[in-house]
Amino acid sequence: TVYPNQKVASVAVAKRIADLIRSKQDRNEQAVLGLATGVTPIGVYAELVRLHKEEGLSFKNVITFNLDEYYPMRPKAAQSYVTFMNENLFDHIDIDKANVHIPDGTLKQDDIPAFCLEYERQINALGGIDLQILGIGRTGHIGFNEPGSAPNSGTRLVTLDDLTRNDASRDFGGKANVPTKAITMGIGTIFKAREIILMAWSGKKAPIIKKAVEGEISGEVPATYLQLSDHVEFILDEDAASEL
Ligand code: GLP
Repeated sequence: TVYPNQKVASVAVAKRIADLIRSKQDRNEQAVLGLATGVTPIGVYAELVRLHKEEGLSFKNVITFNLDEYYPMRPKAAQSYVTFMNENLFDHIDIDKANVHIPDGTLKQDDIPAFCLEYERQINALGGIDLQILGIGRTGHIGFNEPGSAPNSGTRLVTLDDLTRNDASRDFGGKANVPTKAITMGIGTIFKAREIILMAWSGKKAPIIKKAVEGEISGEVPATYLQLSDHVEFILDEDAASEL
């Protein structure tokens, strides 16, 4: 779906999320959301905060799982995805912080495999993710599933691509400060979500969107695996869709 601009697209995605939360509330059920970081979803989170403050949307029945976190990373660091999520969403809504899950960047490396299995177990125990939102990196990564990721991959420790570290260097005050690794949900984890929305804005994303949507399905561009899913929607602004 192509929207004229990022603002109306973000409002539309937020409405989809709000509708899901409300329909679950009507049935006394929990809504399980898969959340993403990066600049792309900021407008969606801003609209969700507005819906909470101005229209009484409650997040009491919402459980969240974030896609990824840098490794190593202290939660209180300015660049952590914990800080990002608190500042852009969680600190402004009535979600129970016990219902928030973000990969732990403080683990000892030996403890990461068990943590990742537990992350998957927690998602499965809740019946899976109802709605997963995604951005896309210029390498074609979703979450931090860089080129070479397997379609059935699970949550795990990965090495970041050079281009991804370049793109992150501004946030970290130089590429040398960007972690070389991250913990990310796998492509297989993402695929299990009942509904997937990938968002992209601006002409900067147009070449990778063309590859993701029209290119050959290959681990070289992990987002191409989404072509295999019948429950994924790309939501784009006109600039991101300009090469399709
Ligand atoms: C980041 C995140 C991804 C995100 C992507 C694009 O590194 N790990 O989940 O989708 O890169 O970021 P942005 O939205 O800032 O362009």
